[in-house]
Amino acid sequence: MEYQEILSRRNEILSRPAHPIPENKLAAERDLYTKRNKRSLEIFEKAKGIIPGGVEHNLSQNKPFPLAMDRGKGYRVWDVDGNVYIDYLMCGAPIILGHGFEPLNEKIIEIIREKGPATGLTSEYELLAAQEIINHMPGVEMVRFLQSGTEADMAAIRIARAFTGKLKIIKIGGSYHGWSDQMVYSIHVPHTGALESKGIPQECFAHIVDVAPNDFDVLEKAFKDNKDKGGVAGVLVEPIGGESGAHPVHPDWNKRIRELCDQYGSLMIFDEVVTGFRVDMGGAQKYYNIMPDLTVLGKIITHGYPSSGAVAGRKDVMSVCHGGLGEKVFMGGTLAANPISMAAGYYALKFMAENDAVRKATIYANKLTKALNKLFETRSDLGFFVYNFGAIMHYVTTAFFSIDLRAPDAFNQIITRQQVANDYSVVTMAHGLCTLAGTRMYTCMQHDDEALHKTLEIWEYLLSLIPKN
Ligand SMILES: Cc1ncc(COP(=O)(O)O)c(C=O)c1O
Repeated sequence: MEYQEILSRRNEILSRPAHPIPENKLAAERDLYTKRNKRSLEIFEKAKGIIPGGVEHNLSQNKPFPLAMDRGKGYRVWDVDGNVYIDYLMCGAPIILGHGFEPLNEKIIEIIREKGPATGLTSEYELLAAQEIINHMPGVEMVRFLQSGTEADMAAIRIARAFTGKLKIIKIGGSYHGWSDQMVYSIHVPHTGALESKGIPQECFAHIVDVAPNDFDVLEKAFKDNKDKGGVAGVLVEPIGGESGAHPVHPDWNKRIRELCDQYGSLMIFDEVVTGFRVDMGGAQKYYNIMPDLTVLGKIITHGYPSSGAVAGRKDVMSVCHGGLGEKVFMGGTLAANPISMAAGYYALKFMAENDAVRKATIYANKLTKALNKLFETRSDLGFFVYNFGAIMHYVTTAFFSIDLRAPDAFNQIITRQQVANDYSVVTMAHGLCTLAGTRMYTCMQHDDEALHKTLEIWEYLLSLIPKN
């Protein structure tokens, strides 16, 4: 779906109130959710006492309570109560081969059995994993491994400042670049500033320049205005748009950022934590044919195995990481590049290429997008729609991500619309469909026609609960 169509359909949804499920029907669905998930509830009740909120990841599916998962295989996951789900969370993007991919697991088990987890020194797998990334990503000549996407984003900012000698980092509103002090600014919804930044001193944002997505004038002004205030060291972008494309970008947006970076001697940094090896084996940089100076990678490069992150890019830029004392950009991480993570990265990327995994996941995503849009046409009163960037799908039901914060009643709108979207997720989960944050679906190479039919069936059921206008 083209950018303009996404915008106009989204605005159409926002021009009307959300479509809640009537309370009596919703109560029955909540009841079903609770009845199916007794063991999960037990675990949650105990966890609440020793883990704040009872759950580690702030963004997990957690309404009315989080479900504890037992295992995953192919496109399915099972919870501790034995319920099975068609999974489109895919661990938050990294799973493309499918859960529990045997050939990959076997390699890792072999390493654990024969070599042990880590020595704290380097291993050959580090070289192999770096080479595999370089082989696929056109903008990457050197790689430095870290332990998470958050760390890799922090490193990219530091490298950009060290390389350019400049100070400011332009961050695009609504984008997510991990939870480090400088980056928890205008996340999720553009213009929210420090709304979600409790515990972070305001000074941390002194050199972060917040630019709303697709605002070409403000973008250019940000470069101009900061020229004599330390200059722009880099622009950090999610190349398909904030929140992995929930805020899609104008077709010329990345091109314009590239031009302005060249004009002002700033670095273009692509955060490919989700897009790398998912929209294409060459990442969004290949998908759009735009070369960033730095690329941030995360969870995807170890395919769900732990300790996963990397900052990568042009050789001259990356070289600031290996200068002598007093020159070098400092980075750490005891378990960074440990053999298990590196072997997982090396073999996962190899298996993905050998199995044509990204293409297969994309074909399925295209098919499901089309089928869901056809289903939604049967309820045109709702205006729901789906779009995808390769194996990343977004479904828009209440458009809560897209509320303009400057509009009157904006906060109420966000809360109400998010609540309705959460209620839809309770229904889909209670019937065996697992998605991300009520807006997103990631596909893997193993999703098949059976998955597609079951997915449509659950959506059809959800639509049947919403009264006709
Ligand atoms: C675009 C993007 N950047 C950075 C991160 C942070 O990665 P991590 O959760 O590994 O710290 C995420 C996490 O979802 C992400 O989506």
